Amino acid sequence: MEKVKVVILNLNRQEIAIENQEKSLISNFAAAGQDWMQACGQKGRCTTCAFEVLEGREFLSEESEAERKFHDNGRLPASRRLACQTRTSGNIVIRVPDDVKLPHLTYTEL
Ligand code: FES
Repeated sequence: MEKVKVVILNLNRQEIAIENQEKSLISNFAAAGQDWMQACGQKGRCTTCAFEVLEGREFLSEESEAERKFHDNGRLPASRRLACQTRTSGNIVIRVPDDVKLPHLTYTEL
């Protein structure tokens, strides 16, 4: 069976294979060697691990309590999810929002 994958549009369409669908996106990114902003250490307390969902929203796990709180209080726009709180069971296309880009990485357009 083909692995589920995440395409990160503005990291030059980098494809990350999801090795473990039970784990968050950010831990799958780490396993694949992909750096990702995570100011609170993946505890759902900041919003710096946010990503924008472009395709495949239906494959994402339900929003966590932390995400619901941030969505409700306006700190997390509706188009964004938190990579430390979200799992995926299908192929998705995402982008890194401008305000949480890592300084040492080179991002592409989109
Ligand atoms: S790393 Fe802080 S909310 Fe995800």
